[in-house]
Amino acid sequence: MAMDTTRLSRRQLLAVSAQAGLGAVVLSLGAGVARPRAGLAQAGRSGVREIRLEARELTWELAPGKVIKAMAYNGRVPGPEIRVKEGERVRVLLKNGLAEPTTIHWHGVDVPNAMDGVPGVTQKPVPPGETFVYEFDARPAGTRWYHTHFQEHKQLDLGLAAPLIIEPTRPDPVPVEREYTLVLDDWVTGMGPPVPPTREGIAGGRGGQGGMMGGGMGRMMEGMMGRGGMGGMMSGDHTPAYDTMTINGKAYPATEPLRVRKGERVRLRLINASADHTHVVRLAGHRLQVTHTDGNPLEQPVDVDALPIAPAERYDVLVVADRPGAWALTCLAPGHRVAGEQVLVVYEGHEGDAAKTPDEGLAGLDFWQYGLGRGRDVLPPPSGRERVYDLALSGGMMGSDVWTINGKQYPRTDPLRLRRGDLVRVRFVNHSMEGHPMHLHGQSFKVLAVNGVRYARPLVKDSVDVEPHMGAVVLAFTAHNPGDWFFHCHKPMHMEGGMILLAQVA
Ligand code: C2O
Ligand code: CU
Repeated sequence: MAMDTTRLSRRQLLAVSAQAGLGAVVLSLGAGVARPRAGLAQAGRSGVREIRLEARELTWELAPGKVIKAMAYNGRVPGPEIRVKEGERVRVLLKNGLAEPTTIHWHGVDVPNAMDGVPGVTQKPVPPGETFVYEFDARPAGTRWYHTHFQEHKQLDLGLAAPLIIEPTRPDPVPVEREYTLVLDDWVTGMGPPVPPTREGIAGGRGGQGGMMGGGMGRMMEGMMGRGGMGGMMSGDHTPAYDTMTINGKAYPATEPLRVRKGERVRLRLINASADHTHVVRLAGHRLQVTHTDGNPLEQPVDVDALPIAPAERYDVLVVADRPGAWALTCLAPGHRVAGEQVLVVYEGHEGDAAKTPDEGLAGLDFWQYGLGRGRDVLPPPSGRERVYDLALSGGMMGSDVWTINGKQYPRTDPLRLRRGDLVRVRFVNHSMEGHPMHLHGQSFKVLAVNGVRYARPLVKDSVDVEPHMGAVVLAFTAHNPGDWFFHCHKPMHMEGGMILLAQVA
């Protein structure tokens, strides 16, 4: 959508037309000519990419008969995909058409602090009826996203989220013939049985080096199988009962099939916009090659059968379309497929085929885990002091909705006081019984170790899932972006409960 359509290559055109079917792209295609729909994006006179977003309430049909009140950017759930080139100047005019304040956070983008969208920290919330202008250079390249940062337990949960794709300026090391962006989300509609909450580490065993070895696999299976029913008793009952799972705002069978052609390499950009749920994505009949973690490239793709994605995480995966037919892409987490998390991948010429779904069984599958990836070091080198912080994540005891870092609730949590250029090492230990996808604003980090296992080639991410029951993550970043940055659990209920601190880079 936010592409300069006059310069569309055939490859891009394919990607666009593929996405247009999903409603994820604001382009209309006629006779092979792409025209931007009025209003969303224009390259300004000054070479600034100008994008207009309006947040407002609407009714949204998740699936036939499942109509809810939602909040959306430009009348769609998820909001329109913004696609820009790395380094491009982006100006977003956010009009607040809601009856309450809002802001936008550019998740995974190294924006100037004042553009970061955190109410009360980097800006005043945008009042109803007013417009706020965000302006920043789009970097780094990768699958980023944008979402509200105001009362996310409500606004994010109701749909104020969307992809932000920053295309690299250098030729893509992983060329593809087609691509789709898939935004995964969890919903409370009251119109179906609740899905068991993600409690035990679905990502269990991420610390291990090998997918099939050691306890990782066992823990994961245990985690996935053992969660029904138990979760509610063991932990907070304040988590809403999610009953519907969507892909690009729709629950199966309302999801728009992904069309492919035999022989194509297809990129899927997976974004978990869920408030609470980890998803485990699998495509029947195909392996997934993981190429990027939170938008950042791996040295080489990692082949897996299934990919757990914690809230706020993104993965780019490559699918080689070499098995013509109709196949279901589904989530393996208990109850998720039935709750709507399925989309069909249909090869050209196989439109009428009965779709094959993946086995529900988990035995013998290769699951993605952090330890399998070798990250490319794309972060700026440190020039200052090394600082080390130990941060204990706790809370949720006896159903409480208090969530703490080193025993304190934001805003009483101790900030990390940093200087530009510092090498910052953070060691998280999770003393609670729920996972915490911890997200740092303003700069990405390296994942140095998980559950005691060190990585020789750390992944680069901006959100990392710290597993329940003493899960541990060591990460490091170069404090290169000055300002006050939120560092928090991405589950809105946990944020609300206080699991936030500030990284202050002077
Ligand atoms: Cu995607 Cu502070 O969040
Ligand atoms: Cu949390």
